[in-house]
Amino acid sequence: MKTLNIIGAGRLGKTLGRLWQQAGFFQVQAIFNRSLDSAQAAAEFIGAGRAVAALELMKPADFWLIACSDSEIAATAERLANHLGERENIAAFHCSGALSSQVLEVLRPAAIASAHPVHSFADPLRSLDNFTGCSVALEGESSATKALAEAFTTIGCEILNIEAQHKSLYHAGSVIACNYLTVLIDLSLSSFAAAGIDRDSALKLLEPIVLQTAQNNMALGPENSLTGPIARGDLETVANQLKDLTSTAPELAHHYRQLGLACVELARRGQLSDESAAKLIELLSEPMR
Ligand SMILES: NC(=O)c1ccc[n+]([C@@H]2O[C@H](COP(=O)([O-])OP(=O)(O)OC[C@H]3O[C@@H](n4cnc5c(N)ncnc54)[C@H](OP(=O)(O)O)[C@@H]3O)[C@@H](O)[C@H]2O)c1
Repeated sequence: MKTLNIIGAGRLGKTLGRLWQQAGFFQVQAIFNRSLDSAQAAAEFIGAGRAVAALELMKPADFWLIACSDSEIAATAERLANHLGERENIAAFHCSGALSSQVLEVLRPAAIASAHPVHSFADPLRSLDNFTGCSVALEGESSATKALAEAFTTIGCEILNIEAQHKSLYHAGSVIACNYLTVLIDLSLSSFAAAGIDRDSALKLLEPIVLQTAQNNMALGPENSLTGPIARGDLETVANQLKDLTSTAPELAHHYRQLGLACVELARRGQLSDESAAKLIELLSEPMR
C-alpha cells in the first residue's frame, strides 16, 4: 500500500485520510497540524498515522496532501520543499478549489496536482456517510492525476479532469451555485420576516419548494425549471413586489432588481416574448438618481 502524509488534517484532511485508510488505498503515515493536539485528534479520527510536532519530523511518504487553508498552501509547500530536497518518485497535491497545482511548483521534481472534491466538509462524521458520489476536479501532472483518479474512485468519487488555467472559473461555478444559494435563502428569509413570518415557519415553508426547485434544475436544466412572475411576463406582480420591497426593505429591492434582470435573460431562452422582456428590463433597472 502507498503511504500518505497529511499536512493540515482538518475537516477535509482527516475525512479523506480516514476514507482512504478504511478502503486500504493509502496507509496514513504522519500528520502535521498547527497544534500537536489537533494532529493527535486527527490521527485518532483516521485510526492511523503518527502526529508530529514539526513538519521536518515527517518521514518521506509516496504521497503528500497539503490540506491547510488556501492562504497557507504556498508557504507550506516552500517549507516542505526545504524538508524534502530534490526528491523524485513522490507526489504532492492540495485540495483547494480556487488554486491550481502551480502553487506547488516549488516541490518539483515531485509530481504535483490539485484535487478538489465538490463536497462540503462541514462535519467530518457526516461526510463519512455522504461523501460517496461527489465529483473531484483533477488537474496537474499526469502521473499524479492518474494515481489520484484511482485514489478518489476507490472512495466512490466521479472524476472530472480540468486545465490549470480554468481552475478559478471552475471554482466560481461552485461558488455561485452553492454559496450564492445560501445568500438567496438568507435574502428570502428577510423578505418573509418583513411580511411578519418567523424564521422557523419560513424555513419549513421553503424546504420542500427549494429542494424541488433544485431537483427540477438538475433533471430539466434551468430553462425548463423557471416559473414565477418573470417567466410568465407578469409585469403587474413584479411592479407590486418591487414597490413593497422598496418601501419596506430597500436593500432587498436592490437584489431583487439585479437578480430579476438575470431572470429575464433566462426567461427569454424560454417562453418570454421580446416585448415583455423589454418592459421587465425597464421596470427592473435601477432608477436614475
Ligand atoms: N471544508 C470544505 O468543505 C472544503 C471543500 C473542498 C476543498 N476544501 C479545501 O481543503 C483545504 C482544507 O480545508 P478545511 O476546510 O479542511 O480546513 P480546516 O478544517 O480549517 O483545517 C485546516 C487544517 O490545517 C492545519 N493548518 C493550518 N495552517 C497550517 C500550517 N501552516 N501548517 C500545518 N497545518 C496547518 C490546521 O491545524 P490546526 O487544527 O492545528 O489549526 C487544520 O487542521 C483547503 O485547501 C480548502 O480549500 C475544503
